[in-house]
Amino acid sequence: MAKGSVFFCQNCGHESSKWLGQCPGCKEWNTFVEEAAPKKAAGGRVRSRERTTPVTLKEIELKEEERIRTNIGELDRVLGGGIVAGSLMLVGGDPGIGKSTLLLQVCQNLAEDNHEVLYISGEESLKQIKIRAQRIGEFKDSLSLLCETNLNEIEEVVKAKKPEVVIIDSIQTMYNENVSAAPGSVSQVRESTGTLMVLAKTLGIAIFIVGHVTKEGVVAGPRVLEHMVDTVLYFEGDRHASYRILRGVKNRFGSTNEIGVFEMQGNGLREVTNPSEFMLNGKPVGASGSVVTCSLEGTRPILVEIQALVSDTSFQIPRRTTVGIDFNRVNLLLAVLEKRAGMQLGGCDAYVNLTGGMRLSEPSIDLAVIAALVSSYRNQVIDEHTIIFGEVGLTGEVRGVAQAEVRIKEAEKMGFTRCIVPKSNCDSIKELKPGIQVVGVAGIMELMDVL
Ligand code: TYD
Ligand code: MG
Repeated sequence: MAKGSVFFCQNCGHESSKWLGQCPGCKEWNTFVEEAAPKKAAGGRVRSRERTTPVTLKEIELKEEERIRTNIGELDRVLGGGIVAGSLMLVGGDPGIGKSTLLLQVCQNLAEDNHEVLYISGEESLKQIKIRAQRIGEFKDSLSLLCETNLNEIEEVVKAKKPEVVIIDSIQTMYNENVSAAPGSVSQVRESTGTLMVLAKTLGIAIFIVGHVTKEGVVAGPRVLEHMVDTVLYFEGDRHASYRILRGVKNRFGSTNEIGVFEMQGNGLREVTNPSEFMLNGKPVGASGSVVTCSLEGTRPILVEIQALVSDTSFQIPRRTTVGIDFNRVNLLLAVLEKRAGMQLGGCDAYVNLTGGMRLSEPSIDLAVIAALVSSYRNQVIDEHTIIFGEVGLTGEVRGVAQAEVRIKEAEKMGFTRCIVPKSNCDSIKELKPGIQVVGVAGIMELMDVL
């Protein structure tokens, strides 16, 4: 081992003086890579005069919070109303998911409103960017482009040009001359982000940073810098499907867990304003094991289909597989069904799938998972105009969920006629159209009778 070197987990940035097989921080395997020890002095701290003398709250002047609208409605909502001047935003996602495309479209809209924008690419040549831009449409001249990976150069350019918004695509290609580690390594990525943070805070420039998510740990993942930036957005979605979900994971200037839905088309990303319709596209009719539920993503209700398949097992230990839903949660619900409803699931394989490539973690989908499992087990079709939501506890009780009315309204809008909801939510529901029937259930046995 070279003197003065340390090992970093390329996934979460955990530091260790010796190589480790499994990271104690994030529990990933084989993610440690040796790097030169970072110089302690080179910290990315914001040093301006007001920071060194303490002030009272009264002395702090509050300016009207300026937000620059990107005019991409889905993105503006995830950001909490637009781009805040001086903020550092991280856009993460798998390679090829559409990060560069989205940000180029942001540039297009900002340039349209005569904001000065600088797009810095370390991945593509100017010609490649032009080819992409031609697919997206017309651009105004307040957008300038730069191909550069040397952060010290970038710093000079930004200081001289003072644009309102800067885009760095991607952080893993950038390098700082003061750090000897290779581009994409933990120390390099951290140091570069530190430099960008100082730029953003001192000059009041909003900076978007693109970060690739990698499984192999060859380059440092965006998780390393999540805590340094103001806003973290992740681009998710099935690469084989055309739509993409932009999820706000952290936001110092807005609420988190908001999502934006986009569809990748031949001429860039298009906003999907009615995601429920999108998610239910292709839902089978008259099939057992298929249930529609309503999940609340941030402030927005989305209808999704949950599918379950319960079949006799041919293995010693029955198989359980989940897609899009927490595996342990499904196991827990299977145990509840076995104990409280007397279903013999010990000899059955169970597969649960959330269609459309969505990933949900809200407990309000529990009841629908139970219903899908029961439907598949009994081979009994659930009426296709029914939606089901509610949280299920270990005693088999159905607990109330937040904003039941909003969820029912969304179902109503999508043409559903029956809602099976927690009994405790029934009182809070008012003013519904006569066409929709609301059934309250207090436990899973009651649910089985209603089905
Ligand atoms: P890109 O933005 O380059 O992904 P990232 O920056 O996250 O790596 O996305 C490129 C993908 O999107 C690529 O597979 C081509 C496709 N695409 C379209 O389908 N339509 C378009 O208009 C554009 C620009 C790209
Ligand atoms: Mg890209």
